[in-house]
Amino acid sequence: MANTILVGTQWGDEGKGKIIDVLTDEADVVVRTQGGNNAGHTVFVRGEKYILHLIPSGILRPGKLCVIGNGVVVNPLSLISEIETLEKLGVRIGRKLLISDAAHVALPFHPKLDEAREKAKGKKRIGTTKRGIGPAYADKASRVGIRMGDLVDAERFPELLRERMREARRILALYGLRPPPYRRTLDAYAEAAERLRPMVTNTVVRLHREIAKGKRFLFEGAQGTYLDIDHGTYPYVTSSNTTAGGACAGSGVPPAKIDSVVGVMKAYTTRVGEGPFPTESEEISQALHAMGREFGATTGRPRRCGWFDAVLVRQAVKINGVDRLAITNVDGLDAFDRIRVCVGYRLGNRRLDWVPSRAADLAACRPVYREFPGWKQDTSGARAWEELPAACRRYLESLAELVGARPAIVSVGPDREQTIRLD
Ligand code: GDP
Ligand code: IMO
Ligand code: MG
Repeated sequence: MANTILVGTQWGDEGKGKIIDVLTDEADVVVRTQGGNNAGHTVFVRGEKYILHLIPSGILRPGKLCVIGNGVVVNPLSLISEIETLEKLGVRIGRKLLISDAAHVALPFHPKLDEAREKAKGKKRIGTTKRGIGPAYADKASRVGIRMGDLVDAERFPELLRERMREARRILALYGLRPPPYRRTLDAYAEAAERLRPMVTNTVVRLHREIAKGKRFLFEGAQGTYLDIDHGTYPYVTSSNTTAGGACAGSGVPPAKIDSVVGVMKAYTTRVGEGPFPTESEEISQALHAMGREFGATTGRPRRCGWFDAVLVRQAVKINGVDRLAITNVDGLDAFDRIRVCVGYRLGNRRLDWVPSRAADLAACRPVYREFPGWKQDTSGARAWEELPAACRRYLESLAELVGARPAIVSVGPDREQTIRLD
């Protein structure tokens, strides 16, 4: 496998963790480049379930270097609890995990501010994960953030934190809140810094050393194309560039070193949080929830579900330069008599084959559906393309044709083994 960026083509939770795990087999280095612990990437290995939030999913395979790049926002306390959870499950972290000294730190007042702003917005809330991701990236953009390199500098950190908390106190006061006490925050973060210090390094230098050695890279995108701060359904988005371009900015690896972009898409659509969703359907939501599926990996919230939206994914294929598709959760459609796919939008009396930039316009779009017959068979045991029912193969071929990219992986269950490779 050449150097590959993996991105979500919908609203997140496409099954990126599972596909990363499959592809990690052929990579040497796995890199997270944006987002933070708002992500929840599920990987099943031999019946054991792992949910990764900050640590690249490659950690589950032995001998892979895992890197949290400069574009990520790191909550050090969550990171340590994630490391401990993995170690309890028998995953060895050792020297396999590196953290960029330029990655920004999420501080305890960030989630507080995130929550306060959401509350103040009332019905207009975004439905964030309340992990403080927006406020942490806002500090970065405002050039008042604290970075991992500062956190592990025991001499400078106390003063930087004190300074940052001075302003945070004033901002939180606008919402009638106070930040957690300085001393308690300092103690907790200083302790975390002690543990993380050996992992914190200049990852740009290290990654370029690995490139020089001819190592193969896999960039693990978090969230999805329509949660991108520029290309998503603003303001119902996250605060980073979740699209392929973000992988280069968030790691310091140049675009010329990228050989392939894998776009992960569910065979239907889901979304957590607020915002427009033209193909949202009560029928498919109820059916999937009744099967115990589509509950958030980070917050446990039930995901909103809808039919596959080819307009959305076709545009994601273009924005990201997707050359290979990974189609997941195909088995989720096994029980349906008929399956709908959105092939265009109607906005007023216009027909659109692209995604409008304004959330209000997308919300007003009515989907134009094409209907496919269901296959009414269990696909979860299929391990080869020929083992899928004919109607299922036709459905997947049509999806690929509609979105304009080649299917490379079909996933029929959460486990590593429940995967069909077509490349
Ligand atoms: P991510 O954020 O993109 O990594 O996706 P999540 O882990 O948040 O959500 C995807 C969910 O679908 C998880 O529960 C996965 O275990 C599950 N999953 C992934 N691929 C498949 C599949 O092909 N079939 C089934 N049944 N579940 C899948
Ligand atoms: P993975 O990597 C699905 C959504 C939230 C909310 C919006 C903003 O598992 O696919 P934030 O906390 O980032 O400020 O929330 O983005 N969101 C996700 N939805 N999967 C994710 O990550 C998400 N990360 C954020 O629900 O609508
Ligand atoms: Mg997820």
